[in-house]
Amino acid sequence: MTRDDPLTVADVARLAQARLPKELWDYVAGGSGAETTLAANRAALDEVAVLPRVLAGVAAPDPGTRLLGSASSLPLAVAPMAYQRLLHPDGELATAEAAEAAGVPFVVSTLASVTVEEVVKTGATTWFQLYWLRAPGVVEDLVARAEDAGCEALVVTVDVPVMGRRLRDVRNSFVLPDDVVAAHLTGGGDGTASRAHAREAGTSAIAAHTAAAFAPGLGWSDLEWLRDRTSLPLVLKGILDPRDAVRAAGCGVDAVVVSNHGGRQLDGAAPSIAAVPSVVAALAGQAAVYLDSGIRTGTDILRALASGADGVLVGRPVLYGLAADGAPGAGRVLSLLAEEFRDAMTLAGCADVAAVRELSTVRTVRA
Ligand code: FNR
Ligand code: LAC
Repeated sequence: MTRDDPLTVADVARLAQARLPKELWDYVAGGSGAETTLAANRAALDEVAVLPRVLAGVAAPDPGTRLLGSASSLPLAVAPMAYQRLLHPDGELATAEAAEAAGVPFVVSTLASVTVEEVVKTGATTWFQLYWLRAPGVVEDLVARAEDAGCEALVVTVDVPVMGRRLRDVRNSFVLPDDVVAAHLTGGGDGTASRAHAREAGTSAIAAHTAAAFAPGLGWSDLEWLRDRTSLPLVLKGILDPRDAVRAAGCGVDAVVVSNHGGRQLDGAAPSIAAVPSVVAALAGQAAVYLDSGIRTGTDILRALASGADGVLVGRPVLYGLAADGAPGAGRVLSLLAEEFRDAMTLAGCADVAAVRELSTVRTVRA
């Protein structure tokens, strides 16, 4: 390692920002509305203070766990994120390769710019994230495709009936370049994919595409249909209210992701970390609980697990690594998080992930 190697996710984010055109940085780093929820995710994580245990005899902690039945070297998966070829020509192939090397699951988006079949070839444990599209038959085709490709879970994202109002993208009249496409929606697809490439001043083209393509009226009966349709583990991503978590478990969902989409959907939604304890209590073990939105350090992973989560998803940091240096950059982010989490476990006296989940927390409010 040289003196200039990034030592934190924040360092990697600075490298990414220096490399990216402003409109791409804004698309990745930004949130919706006044970005209140985006900021609140960070503030609320910083308010979770952990009570470390001592004299626990921990020399070498083991951060390994199981996520939906698959072994993972960390309680962490790479969150689904659209159009990764925007940030580096290798796109999802690079981030999946980094996930494989780190031994953590990779979630491939419906809006990925590389197909699920190619992602699976990297050898990463792959979960498929499903957006519910309006066009008849497309959801069923995507589910069959994910199953045939060898995906090990389906992640249904339920917090995007329409895209949140991302003012940075609106101001930038953000549009996808011609060479970055929604790889699962070409060649037939649902016929709306070209909307994301049509520049219109004062409009986000990806929001226009979403409005044309996504089914805003998605309901519980659709989830029941999906539960009957597939035997893959099902994850519901975008839950904040414990009543929805309990209803999801009643529909046979295996896990929920407590998430506000990284502050990109409802501005004013609660910070995800604040919703974790009540979701965990309401579910009482009926489904696993993962958290995303704002995880930037190994300490944040410790905070999430000490608050009751079984694991976390990490979003933007992986894209910052991808933008900074392709697969090695994304790999660097995952190894930094792994190193920081192992250190945090040692300092908190935790031999394993189960011990982390037994830690107590207090909430501190900063002046
Ligand atoms: C996302 N996210 C997302 N979620 C999803 O279910 N499908 C998707 O296609 C996308 N696309 C996407 C693109 C970009 C650029 C970002 C930053 C995020 C949301 C993502 O899965 C996750 O919920 C958040 O990114 C988590 O917050 P952090 O870790 O980025 O703070
Ligand atoms: C986003 C969508 C694609 O957050 O989920 O950009």
